[in-house]
Amino acid sequence: MKEKLINKAMEVLDANFQNGGFTIPCKGLYPFQWNWDSGFIAIGLAYYNMENAQLEIKTLLDAQWDNGFIPHIVFHNESDSYFPGADFHKSDLHPKASKKFRSTGMTQPPVLGFVLHEMYRIAQDKQDMLGFITRNLDKVYDNHLYFYNNRDLHNEGLMYIYHNWESGTDNSPIWDDIWTTIDPPEYTFERRDTTHVDASQRPSKREYDYYLHIIDIAKENQYNDAKIAELSPFLVQDPLFNAMLIKSNEALIDLYTLIGGNESKIDQLKSWQAKSISSFNKKLFNKKLGAYVHYDLRNEKQIELLSSSSFSPLYACIPDKERAEQVVNTMIDKFGGDNRYLCASFDPASDRFNPIKYWRGPVWINLNWLLYYGLKNYGYDSIAQRVKEDSIALIQQHGFYEYFDSRKEKHNTNVGGYGGNDFSWSAALLIDLLNN
Ligand code: SER
Repeated sequence: MKEKLINKAMEVLDANFQNGGFTIPCKGLYPFQWNWDSGFIAIGLAYYNMENAQLEIKTLLDAQWDNGFIPHIVFHNESDSYFPGADFHKSDLHPKASKKFRSTGMTQPPVLGFVLHEMYRIAQDKQDMLGFITRNLDKVYDNHLYFYNNRDLHNEGLMYIYHNWESGTDNSPIWDDIWTTIDPPEYTFERRDTTHVDASQRPSKREYDYYLHIIDIAKENQYNDAKIAELSPFLVQDPLFNAMLIKSNEALIDLYTLIGGNESKIDQLKSWQAKSISSFNKKLFNKKLGAYVHYDLRNEKQIELLSSSSFSPLYACIPDKERAEQVVNTMIDKFGGDNRYLCASFDPASDRFNPIKYWRGPVWINLNWLLYYGLKNYGYDSIAQRVKEDSIALIQQHGFYEYFDSRKEKHNTNVGGYGGNDFSWSAALLIDLLNN
């Protein structure tokens, strides 16, 4: 079984690999290079094709801007199967944008630091991998420097995101209350995603109006960070995004230590870490819910809702032991009933929960992967094992889907995998889980 699944996963990744030296998330729905997708994909590739794993990261870093920013989509090629494309985003409005590649003007959770660390762990040829890391680590450091210089509004070590697409959890119910504070125009445009996937599984037309409106505000200000911080109606400190940065900071410390030298960078990273972890625990923990939540900077309040992002700080060792226990208990109580696969992306008890709609409830393999390692960090091995087995079972029954229904009874009908099929990070991270 294991062998067969790994072979199938490799086929998925190889079929999604493109001539430009990167892997698309899946055919049709996502025809370009996505930032955090590429990171997760490189981890899977590292097991059987380190050359392509390194190429994946190199290609993404080639599109880095002169200010250290790494965009969320790199439009390497023309494609009319995706909206909004390069002509809508107009990254060249920013004076430091890549002159070589068109991209979006927003980013995604900063995974590259820990991805390089994982690639090193997996690498057979450690010397070769260390060479690759040595050539690329400063670029990732510059990306973190960009965040601390431009996205840390109150100088507290917590970055803001200005668009829901920067969170990676695009249409999460977390944003619903923010949408009620904004009144975007009714845009006229042709959706492409719903030509690939049933509309019931994707965000609504009105949600796309919000998404486009926020981008338009950023564009009117040439994607200037200070202006965006001042004017964007969406400004959020996201626990998943910040946990990814903190985990990547830690990875950079380890990797710089391995390389030797670089003392000043290591010192800087350590001081960022101390500040970020302390603020994270003060500002993003919600005692009543027993887990981490988002903070809405524009409206100055915590968003008191549970999602799989609420548990992701386990991956970056952000809570102490006692708090970690609370977080794990919340996860099991609220998301882990016997009738459920772990881990739904949004609180199943909420009336906003939708088990088949993108980030409004389904299980996602990348979050499961983070939770698996997060639980292991604190010794919750049997729950970690359950997350792993659930992930494998879902893929084995349905295929390498983008996301899955968390309700066990649904799976008797053989319906349960949704969104894009032959989805790259589901394949890549399964390879890692099966090798563990
Ligand atoms: N995932 C987004 C989309 O659905 C963009 O990152 O298009």
